[in-house]
Amino acid sequence: MRINTLCRRLLPAAIACAVGTSGAVLAADPEEIIEYRQGAMQVTKYHFSTIADMLKGKIEYDQAAVEKHADVVQMMSTLVKDEFPEGTDALAGETGALIDIWDKPDEFADKVAEFEKTASELEDVAESGDRERLAKAVKDVGSSCKACHDDFRQDE
Ligand code: HEC
Repeated sequence: MRINTLCRRLLPAAIACAVGTSGAVLAADPEEIIEYRQGAMQVTKYHFSTIADMLKGKIEYDQAAVEKHADVVQMMSTLVKDEFPEGTDALAGETGALIDIWDKPDEFADKVAEFEKTASELEDVAESGDRERLAKAVKDVGSSCKACHDDFRQDE
């Protein structure tokens, strides 16, 4: 457990914890960061689900669009590791981020890495235009979203 998480738990009076808090965390408003990451997740969802909808035939398949959406998903996956700085937990604002993100940083990092890996594969496969491989890549990305949400996001 990191010092900031620990002191937040033991001493809810935030001011008593300032000593253990890194300067970097204080640089931006925690509520702004929470809003930003929720927006980032929504952007990711839009681009990802558009590819899925094309594969399902809900909207017309468009190769150039698939490539663009996959590029965005890949790029968004690289941002996740910076979206959860210390001090942006439920004490800082309205968030579905569970405290385990900061209590089990290695496990969280594994989920982030899995998302980066599957999103990178999605980007590669999207360029090939092979719809069978694309369907598999979409499934793998979807599993990586779900794996992280299952462990680190509050149930809705
Ligand atoms: C490494 C963990 C992780 C991965 C991977 C991940 N998410 Fe999330 N996601 C979260 C957490 C944690 C929250 C809650 C954020 C908050 O409320 O501050 C969240 C929230 C969301 C939200 C709700 C945002 C809002 O408006 O409150 C959506 C939509 C979402 N994720 C979609 C996705 C999709 C789609 C993927 C995969 C393509 C994905 N996420 C991958 C951890 C993850």
